Amino acid sequence: MLPDKKTAERELEIAGHLNPGPWTNHSLNAGLAAKYIAEKCTNMDADKAYILGILHDIGRRVGIVSVPKHVYEGYVYSMEKGWDEVAKICMTHSYPIKGKDFAEEVQDEEIFIKDYIVSCAYDDYDRLLQLCDSLALANGFCMLEKRFIDVSRRYGVSSTSVSRWNATFGIKEYFAKQMKCSIYDVLPNVKETTFMDIPLWKPPIK
Ligand SMILES: [Fe+2]
Repeated sequence: MLPDKKTAERELEIAGHLNPGPWTNHSLNAGLAAKYIAEKCTNMDADKAYILGILHDIGRRVGIVSVPKHVYEGYVYSMEKGWDEVAKICMTHSYPIKGKDFAEEVQDEEIFIKDYIVSCAYDDYDRLLQLCDSLALANGFCMLEKRFIDVSRRYGVSSTSVSRWNATFGIKEYFAKQMKCSIYDVLPNVKETTFMDIPLWKPPIK
C-alpha cells in the first residue's frame, strides 16, 4: 500500500514543520531522481518511485536522530499509516550491502532493523532508492562521488563505507543498462549542482 502523490507531498510538508532542515529538499530531489530514472525503465512505475522517494526519510519527522533511528521511525510511522511499501523503503534505503552493513552485536532499534534487512528480498524499488538517496542533495542532483563525500563529512566513515559506495556504483550500472543511457542523462542540471560550492550543513545546537 502507498499514499497518493498529494498525500505523500503533504506528509513531507508536515514533517518539515516538525523538523526543519535540508532533508526535506533532499527527499523531494530523491523522489524526482527516482521518477526520472523509473520513466526510462520499462518495468517500473514512475509515480510509485516518486512517492517512495519523497517519503524514504520520513522518519526524520521526529527530529534530528541517528541513521538507525530515522530508519526505524520511518518504518513504524509508515506501518501505522498502512503504507507497507513506504515502510520497506524507509528500512532498505540505508543498507545497500544488507547484512554486511551491521556489526555482529547490535543494540536498540538496530536489532529489529538487522533482522528485517537480513531476511528481506530487495526489489528494483529498494535498489532505486538506495541509488537516488546518493544522487540527491538539498540543492539538486549530483554525481554519486559528491554525495558520498558530503555524507562522510557529516557522519564520518566506517569500515563498510567503500563496500557501500561500490554497491551503489553497481546499482548505477544496473539501471543504466535498463535505461540504455547514463543515469546522469536524465537528471537536470546534474553537472551544475555537482560543481556548485555548497557549505557543509550542520544541525543547529539545541
Ligand atoms: Fe535520504
